Amino acid sequence: MIRIRNLWKRYGSNDVLKGLNLDVNEGEILVILGRSGVGKSVLLRQIIGIEKPDQGTVEVGGVMISSLKKKELFQAVKQMGMLFQSSALFDSMNVEENTIFYLKQHGKPPTGTPYSIQELEALIVKSLNMVGLLDARKKMPSDLSGGMRKRAGLARLIAYRPHILLYDEPTTGLDPITAQQINELIVSTQEELNGTSIVVTHDINSALYIADRIALHRDGQIVHVAPPDEFLKIDEPIINFLRETLELKKRKPKKK
Ligand SMILES: Nc1ncnc2c1ncn2[C@@H]1O[C@H](COP(=O)(O)OP(=O)(O)OP(=O)(O)O)[C@@H](O)[C@H]1O
Ligand SMILES: [Mg+2]
Repeated sequence: MIRIRNLWKRYGSNDVLKGLNLDVNEGEILVILGRSGVGKSVLLRQIIGIEKPDQGTVEVGGVMISSLKKKELFQAVKQMGMLFQSSALFDSMNVEENTIFYLKQHGKPPTGTPYSIQELEALIVKSLNMVGLLDARKKMPSDLSGGMRKRAGLARLIAYRPHILLYDEPTTGLDPITAQQINELIVSTQEELNGTSIVVTHDINSALYIADRIALHRDGQIVHVAPPDEFLKIDEPIINFLRETLELKKRKPKKK
């Protein structure tokens, strides 16, 4: 479904992606783990075509995203949606306007027929309900908590119904209960849309819950990819650390 080959990206003298290779299979949820600053967000931006790599290729569903010109790119990335790390809500629009912005702009795929007001209302209600934000539909982004912003971004993604879903840190900064609700939404959205998802996270619990496979991004490359059970057995400092944090949790001493 997604094939990334020999991807290079540098900013000034900072080589971020250094010949990265990655395959994402149709219908899977691939989780990418990696330390802060390794280039996970940069990688997502190359996949969705917001930025062009210096070298290498990104192929999505047989289309070479990395070499398309603006107009073709726009068509090709219509099937993709992304939850940005910062949520990227439009500050001048309230929650419900943010939710349906793209739908109003682009109409129904593939023809672009405009949605009726009733259809838009149904989509608002459905997607804001899914993230527990229906009561906040008239609020402006500046009046939302960080977790609510994240959920509003997720509602917008769900309403858009793309087949390829990219999530940048969907659970970071959320309380454990909300984080688990988001995990469940990622899985249910994937199933409902028959989608393919890439989820960047630092949250190992989230990764274990949602992932079909987990990838480790380190030194500008994907250095391991494996199903969760196998991934946790890999002898690699970062993975050893993650395994230990999971074991620590299990070994909480009982209070007397
Ligand atoms: N537009 C840009 N211009 C210059 N440098 C950039 C740009 N975008 C990213 N970088 C640099 O690329 C590196 C990787 O950034 P990126 O945001 O992808 O990290 P990350 O793995 O997503 O980290 P985090 O887990 O903290 O979100 C950083 O050193 C960052 O400063
Ligand atoms: Mg990031």
